[in-house]
This record gives sequence, C-alpha cells and structure tokens, in this order.
Amino acid sequence: MELTKKEQRMLDGAEGYAVQKSMEILVALGEIYGANSLISVGSVQVAGVSYHNLGDAGLEFLNELAKDGKVKVLTTLNPAGMDLENWQQLGISAEFAEKQNLVIDAFKRMGILISCTCTPYLIGNLPLYGEHIAWSESSAVTFANSIIGARTNREGGPSALAAAFVGKTPSYGLHLDENRVPDVHVHVNVELTKLSDWGALGYAIGKKAENKISYITGIKAADLDELKSFCASIVTYGAKPLFYIKSITPAAEEQPQPKETVEIDQADIQNAYNNINDEVNQIELVCVGCPHCSIKEISQIAKLIEGKQVAENTEFWVATSRTAKQLADKRGYTEVIEAAGGKFACDTCMAVAPLKGRFKSLATTSAKGCFYSRQNSMKTKMGSIEQCIDAAVTGQWNS
Ligand code: F3S
Repeated sequence: MELTKKEQRMLDGAEGYAVQKSMEILVALGEIYGANSLISVGSVQVAGVSYHNLGDAGLEFLNELAKDGKVKVLTTLNPAGMDLENWQQLGISAEFAEKQNLVIDAFKRMGILISCTCTPYLIGNLPLYGEHIAWSESSAVTFANSIIGARTNREGGPSALAAAFVGKTPSYGLHLDENRVPDVHVHVNVELTKLSDWGALGYAIGKKAENKISYITGIKAADLDELKSFCASIVTYGAKPLFYIKSITPAAEEQPQPKETVEIDQADIQNAYNNINDEVNQIELVCVGCPHCSIKEISQIAKLIEGKQVAENTEFWVATSRTAKQLADKRGYTEVIEAAGGKFACDTCMAVAPLKGRFKSLATTSAKGCFYSRQNSMKTKMGSIEQCIDAAVTGQWNS
C-alpha cells in the first residue's frame, strides 16, 4: 500500500503511540484486503462500547490509546452496556456501572462524542451521499451505505478507532464502485403493513440473498423507521451491508438489474415470523427500539400507552438515544410513558446490556432484537408496536 510522506511519519511514530498503533492496524488491514492507499473519512462510529463485551482486556486497550490518542474527525459511539444516567433503574449492578464508566471516560479523553446510539444519523452524525466514512455497527453501516449512499465497510471496534485517530481508512471493499454493484434481483410480492413486517422481510431476503448485494423491486413506499428496521434485519440474517430499493434508495436507478432473481412472497414472510417467534405466552421484557427509537416512534408509543399500566411482572423498555429522549422530555412523551410504568433505556440496548439470566422472554418489534435476545437465552416474540404495548400491559403475547 502506498503511503504519503505524512502517513509514513505517522506510522513511524511522529504523532505518538495511538496514531502509530492506528496506522499499523490500517496498513495491515489495507494489505490484507488489497487496498492501494488510505482515503479520508468524514466521520467514524465506534462499536465495542459495552463493558459486557470488552471486559478488562478491552478497557486496558482503550486506556492505552487514550493516553495520547485524540480523534481527528467527528466520532460517535454505539450503545454502551447501560443507561449512563439511570442504570440503577434498569437493574444494572454497581460493579458493572463502575467498569462501564471507566470505558466511557477513556472514550471521552479521546475526544469522542458520548452519543451511545446505533442511529448516529438521527443525532447529528449524518454523512452525505458518496462520502467515505468508517462506521462499525451493522444496522448503521447498512443504513449509511444503502439509504444515504455514503461508503463504509463494516469496521471492527479497533479499526474504527484507528480511522478516527488517523482520519483515514484503507480504500477497499464498499469504498470502491466495483464492489457496490448488485448481484441479485429480489422481487417483493408482499404488502408490508406493520413495522415488524420489515424485520421479517430482512430475514427473508437475508436468508435468500445471503452475502449478495440485493437490488429490490416491488416495494412502493417506505418511511425512515421501516428502513432502519429493515437495515438491521437484512444484515443480521444475511451479511451484506448494502442493498438498493428501486425508486426509494439513492443510485438504485443507475444500477444494472442483476440476472439472478429471487421472489419474496407471503409464505416467506410467514416463514420469517415462524422462525423468529418462539412458543411463549408470558412476556417478562418488552423492548422497543432496535435500532434505537426515533422521536416519531416514541410519540407512537406514548399515544398507545397513555392511561394504561405496565403489568406487574413485566418490564417495558424504550431503547433510544439520549438526544431523542431529551426531545421526548420536552414534548411530554417521557412523562406519559413513565406514568404508565415504562422505562427509558438510553445509551444502551437489549443486545449489549448484561441481561443474560434476568428475563426469560422478550417481545419486540425487531427481528434483530430477537436474534440477539436468543443469544441471551430469552424466548422471543416479534410483532407490531401495538402488539408490543399490549404485551407490556397484559404481560402476555395475545395473538
Ligand atoms: Fe442497535 Fe442494539 Fe439493535 S445496537 S440495532 S438496538 S441490537
């Protein structure tokens, strides 16, 4: 890989330990994937924030980098293992909170915005069409590539941090035109009527298209919440963090329609629900907000739960960014949701919080949320926001 004189000096240690380590990571990655050079990035999103996943070894690695590492571009964080302000309310232990706060302190010293969300594009980290970025979290990477038309590979925590300290990333994979061409035409013969149908569609396409870039036709309309849910699901059950939807996503019209075609019909959607939903009726945790809730979703939740009460043996969590919660505070949605017994889970989510063993069952709108909650030994149900609010209020899955 060819380095400029400035990049070579960084690799030689002229800008200190964190930049030198970062250059070593970026050069190694570039050589593995055949990159010719580094390219500048407009922003970075760092995953690997939860102490639950990092452990003491990860914390030590971050503290080493934080000694002299300062980010060169706008850098935001993925969810942490707890609500940074109200962790007690979510049943997080003091020992865990202490370690999680040390992780957050390290990121703060690096100059990173402590945003803790998988929807950075909703809180001010919004790239432009065609902009090169280095993001980590899979749903956000898929949203950036597909819905915005920015360009990013799915970075690991260390490679995203390295890009933040250097302001660059190796030019390979989805940064290059030739790797952004769709490989499979997916025709959707189904009308999607509720948010969770988009999760089911992501499951169905992910299973059929696997690691291919889909060129999707047959979808007439989509809103932001539906697309963010779809992004989370397609990359969880498939692998590629890029797709095109004709007439909806940017640059779709410029793409050649691939010869290989697969069809998605009602049976595929039903099959997705059948596979995602377990045999369970009693619901111990209802969590909406995977990816993190937008203010529009919070307003829908407030409207649906107003005047009701969460069941005694059930918890109801609204996972969102702190920025969205602050808007909800101002609009009075927080008061309504909390009066009903609901809790906000800001800065965190059901996948990265230490929930194993705490809840046996989960209801959610999110196919991705079900995937990760099963890894936490929960039985899962996926349905509409209405079905989830009903489960929160009755403690049962009624459908
Ligand atoms: Fe976001 Fe956590 Fe879901 S990171 S996409 S809320 S699993």
